Amino acid sequence: MNFQLTEEQLAVQAAARDFAQSELWAGVIERDEHQKFPAEQVKKMGELGFLGMMVSPEYGGGGMDTVSYVLAMEEISKVDASCSVIMSVNNSLVCWGLEKYGTEEQKQKYLTKLTTGEMIGAFALSEPEAGSDATSQSTTAEDMGDYYLLNGTKNWITNGSTASVYLVIAQTDPGKKHRGINALIVERDSPGFVVGPKENKLGIRGSDTHSLMFTDVKVPKENRIGEDGFGFKFAMQVLAGGRIGIAAQALGIASGAYELSVKYSKERKAFGVPISQHQAIQFKLADMATNIDAARLLCLQAAHDKDAGLDYAKSGAMAKLFASKTAMDTAVEAVQVHGGYGFVKEFHVERMMRDAKITQIYEGTSEIQKIVISREILK
Ligand code: CAA
Ligand code: FAD
Repeated sequence: MNFQLTEEQLAVQAAARDFAQSELWAGVIERDEHQKFPAEQVKKMGELGFLGMMVSPEYGGGGMDTVSYVLAMEEISKVDASCSVIMSVNNSLVCWGLEKYGTEEQKQKYLTKLTTGEMIGAFALSEPEAGSDATSQSTTAEDMGDYYLLNGTKNWITNGSTASVYLVIAQTDPGKKHRGINALIVERDSPGFVVGPKENKLGIRGSDTHSLMFTDVKVPKENRIGEDGFGFKFAMQVLAGGRIGIAAQALGIASGAYELSVKYSKERKAFGVPISQHQAIQFKLADMATNIDAARLLCLQAAHDKDAGLDYAKSGAMAKLFASKTAMDTAVEAVQVHGGYGFVKEFHVERMMRDAKITQIYEGTSEIQKIVISREILK
């Protein structure tokens, strides 16, 4: 692996940093407090090319590699992890899945708009009774000849109310178990499709998370992704890459909390000296920096594996497992470094601590990452 970033990668990193630092700090506390979707910021991300980074220019994307995507995700997550989850779902689940497995018609109809932000995408796998145990799908897509009849409920769907395109995973042939599952493109205005109320969350409160209800929704056959029965494999393939994005999100939350802690420790005085001169604080910063560097290396390793055409299920899962723990540990310690000020909103680290937690849950919990890693090791 080459540790030197290319000029192009450095330019993407600088552009993302510039955008995040200049456009995302303003209003981030208010968006969190009022669960306000960052509509203007997402629009700008679309204009700057952050919503379809890895998609080929042929479909309006940036044609960038996964390393660049990781760098941009880190910078944006340093300031606002709500913006970065919207970006991550659109890029690595929806756009990547459509570009890799969609038909030319599907790409022309949806992908070209998803890359610019004209459309936002959502990925709907989880259900009230099927999260980690993702093969136990209750949502059904009954084969009616030239269309599927979709019935069921999806839970916890990011971009739930703002999306106009949903990739919905559903069971067509229960007898075939996971090999009878399909992935369908469902449009927001399909009759019978209802978006449930917004979830009131601990963290990433600017992102909109909803349940989705489908009652006799007719989905044309041409909206199926891949062959009949490919839906579960599709979901797993998409998630293998998505986990690199969430790992980078976790890395960004950790880096953001760390940077604020370094700055604060030099400013805040206790016992006549800046707290950065107390060894207890210095050691916290040393632990944070070491874990963050290790997390970054794992993220870049996984991104490199994907870009090089190597298997990245294990390296992506390792990156997510380690970076999400680093995000949680670093954010908790960042609050400690800030003392009482860390416990109030103005100093940002309490939000980062709340945001960090989700990275250990979605796109496969930490326990699921360990299942993926150990199966790869032992196979
Ligand atoms: N690529 C391709 N196929 C894969 C695969 C991969 N990386 N991983 C598994 N598969 C295939 C297997 O080969 C198998 O197919 P065959 O039998 O035809 O070979 C099929 O998937 C089932 O695999 P398993 O037998 O291993 O299935 P399992 O029931 O033991 O579960 C699991 C495996 C890894 C636990 C899986 O269920 C899983 O990943 N669960 C977590 C779900 C998840 O991550 N959800 C995230 C939702 S999206 C989200 O969260 C977005 C967001 O927040 C922003
Ligand atoms: P469960 O699967 O019920 O797990 C509960 C606990 O049991 C966890 O600690 C888990 O690790 C553990 N556990 C379960 N099985 C095992 C096992 N075999 N071995 C060891 N431990 C186990 N889903 C989508 O499809 N699309 C989205 O856009 C999306 N966005 C989300 C956004 C937010 C804010 C949230 C909270 C969730 C989102 N999800 C989304 C759902 C998310 O992926 C699931 O919550 C996650 O996969 C866990 O599923 P669960 O909540 O059903 O927990």
